[in-house]
Amino acid sequence: MHLLLRKQDAGIFIGSVLWLLLSCGFSFGVESDINCLKSIKASLEDTLGYLNSSWDFNNNTEGFICNFLGVECWHPHESKVLNIKLSDMGLKGQFPRGVENCTSLTGLDLSGNMLSGPLPHDIDKILTWVTSLDLSSNSFTGQIPLQLSNCSYLIVLKLDNNKFSGTIPPELGQLSKIYTFSVANNQLSGQVPNFNNPSITVDSYANNPGLCGKPLEVCGSPAKKSSIVKVLNSNNVAIAAAAGFGFGFPFSFCFFLPRAPSVRYLVVFARRFKS
Ligand SMILES: *[C@@H]1O[C@H](CO)[C@@H](O)[C@H](O)[C@H]1NC(C)=O
Ligand SMILES: *[C@@H]1O[C@H](CO)[C@@H](O)[C@H](O)[C@H]1NC(C)=O
Ligand SMILES: *[C@@H]1O[C@H](CO)[C@@H](O)[C@H](O)[C@H]1NC(C)=O
Ligand SMILES: *[C@@H]1O[C@H](CO)[C@@H](O)[C@H](O)[C@H]1NC(C)=O
Repeated sequence: MHLLLRKQDAGIFIGSVLWLLLSCGFSFGVESDINCLKSIKASLEDTLGYLNSSWDFNNNTEGFICNFLGVECWHPHESKVLNIKLSDMGLKGQFPRGVENCTSLTGLDLSGNMLSGPLPHDIDKILTWVTSLDLSSNSFTGQIPLQLSNCSYLIVLKLDNNKFSGTIPPELGQLSKIYTFSVANNQLSGQVPNFNNPSITVDSYANNPGLCGKPLEVCGSPAKKSSIVKVLNSNNVAIAAAAGFGFGFPFSFCFFLPRAPSVRYLVVFARRFKS
């Protein structure tokens, strides 16, 4: 009995030492993560005041940043940022470089803001461990950086609805874990990367001026094919219109028939005539 208690005490003691060691180890990252968020806040224009009202740094409680809007920590009482999700917050400015100091970040979502300018060329140093990057629906310009191909943990990469131009770096095809990829609605041209992945379809590339290569049409024979596609499309419109008319006409006739008074009288008259 006496011995058992002692064993428990020893266990608790060792546990506490481990916990202290881990906390000390992490506190290095914690300071850095707080600086990361401070820098993000300072570098963005917060047009709707979301960050202004929620991101208050005048608090030294461990893990206080974990209650910030859009911030998810690895553990709620430890200022170590896991995900940052600042979508649709009316944020303006350039890609926030301060993210580089959130050294354990796995997800960044800045979609649906008014961010502009090019992406940093050393983006692989900023987002080393990120598995999900969503920058869609902003106004980013310039080329998609080649260095994104070094962010080898990426599963989700959404760059759609921006103003990216030039070619898509073929090296992105090396992203072996990628599952969701979209660059739709940009100003991209040239050959698309060879992702050996059936989940990446033509939709990933829609509405760019000139992309080609699997799963799109083969590069180098653009004019003929695109005109055939156009003809097909206009045929589809014609067929759809014809079908719409075919279905719509009897339908609208039925719909209006009982309402039009003159027709009603006609029906009554016809019945009387019959009987
Ligand atoms: C930020 O918030 C403070 C108090 O919450 C307010 O007084 C100030 O006007 C806000 N600033 C902006 C730019 O919204
Ligand atoms: C500081 O943050 C903690 C945890 O988020 C919260 O419970 C506390 O109310 C905050 N204190 C102040 C003064 O804002
Ligand atoms: C990241 O942290 C380092 C060290 O505190 C600092 O020198 C650097 O300016 C920070 N980076 C950004 C972009 O704020
Ligand atoms: C990827 O990272 C490695 C190691 O840091 C570097 O040598 C290489 O140049 C990077 N590749 C690209 C395309 O940036």
